[in-house]
Amino acid sequence: MKNRSLLVCGAGTMGAGIAQTAAQHGLSVMLFDLSEPVLKKAEEQIRQRLENLVQKQKISESAFDSIVQSIEYTTDISLCKAPVLLEAIVEKLSVKNKLFEELAALNGPASIYATNTSSLSVEEIAVAHPYPSQVIGMHFFNPAPLMKLVEVVTTSHSSPAVVRKIVELATNMGKTPVICKDSPGFIVNRVARPFYIEALRLAEQGVSFSLIDDLMEAAGFKMGPFRLMDLIGNDVNYAVSCSVYEQLGKPERLRPSSVQEQKVKEGNLGRKTGAGYYTYKS
Ligand code: NAI
Repeated sequence: MKNRSLLVCGAGTMGAGIAQTAAQHGLSVMLFDLSEPVLKKAEEQIRQRLENLVQKQKISESAFDSIVQSIEYTTDISLCKAPVLLEAIVEKLSVKNKLFEELAALNGPASIYATNTSSLSVEEIAVAHPYPSQVIGMHFFNPAPLMKLVEVVTTSHSSPAVVRKIVELATNMGKTPVICKDSPGFIVNRVARPFYIEALRLAEQGVSFSLIDDLMEAAGFKMGPFRLMDLIGNDVNYAVSCSVYEQLGKPERLRPSSVQEQKVKEGNLGRKTGAGYYTYKS
């Protein structure tokens, strides 16, 4: 095992994809989650996706072996040491702050603490952190192995060296980093909010999910809003909507939808739970 370059916290939809991407680009990664079954599932998903790449002759068998060997999995936080620590855990400020506090105690002031948050204030995360200049947003898109864009979110505390290193890291992972300032939803999630909310408003009025999706896809969108929310995860998408709504002063046009709130309450989170607006085979 080479020297570990990256630690990814949270082995869910995003964390597993980010760890895979890093390993595919020659980095040695550790993936940390509280849940052993989640880590097992992440490992299986990564292997499956890499096997598909071998079958499509996009990577060789030996590349498969070396990528698989570049990822370690752990539930033990005392092993979470690396020069760059990227969190992709639940979208809740208090939980992210607590994790960063633990990681800071283990790693000290030289490491970089990056957050994959979609909508929380990176400035607030930095202010609560023992080493604010080392905190930065590194916002990947779903599915992480495929989507090129990474929003690099800076705060008033960000050290220029940290920004440079994260831009370099994203580039080395085959991504296109774009530096943007901390603001509600950054750029993509801010602009995309009305796409989801307006679709949900129509659904509240009784228009079917599939009709809206089919028409939007026929109009040229790669995925309709409901298929996309199921891919993202309704818990995550709803949390982002609530966070952007609150941060922008609760404008009526961005009020989160009861239709989506209900899906979250029912545990119908989308592909990751097998059901959302649609049902999925496991
Ligand atoms: P997810 O629900 O699929 O995975 C979150 C994982 O974090 C779970 O496996 C959970 O066990 C783990 N976790 C929770 N608390 C933890 C802790 N204290 N320490 C370690 N692990 C912990 O969530 P997903 O979709 O991967 O989102 C993660 C983050 O990435 C969120 O901040 C979200 O806003 C952001 N994001 C999500 C995107 C998406 O399309 N789903 C896109 C871009 C960013």
